[in-house]
Amino acid sequence: MFFFKKKPAHHIIVLPHAELCPQGEMVPAEPGRSIAELLLENGVELSHSCQLQCACTTCQVHVMEGSACLSGMDGEEEKMLNNSGQRDGFSRLACQAVFQGGGNVVVEIP
Ligand code: FES
Repeated sequence: MFFFKKKPAHHIIVLPHAELCPQGEMVPAEPGRSIAELLLENGVELSHSCQLQCACTTCQVHVMEGSACLSGMDGEEEKMLNNSGQRDGFSRLACQAVFQGGGNVVVEIP
């Protein structure tokens, strides 16, 4: 008899947002996919004016927990966030923050 160890399921947890998900949302996190892709594919209509090309900042989220489970920020994302005038210590562009595994990620949509 074979026993397969089930991989731990990780999620992107979205804190409640009045318009986009009043009750909050929890979507399965798949390594190699960006936060924006995961939210959009699971019904959270995150703004993404440039179609996930790192050219607008409308997909900005605040990563409240689990930032170590995401890809690092590259220079282009850094530049876009700096120019947005709305950056804080938790800011990421959801289209550039790629889930890499290891735990849950909690985000707030500003
Ligand atoms: S969708 Fe435009 S920067 Fe992410």
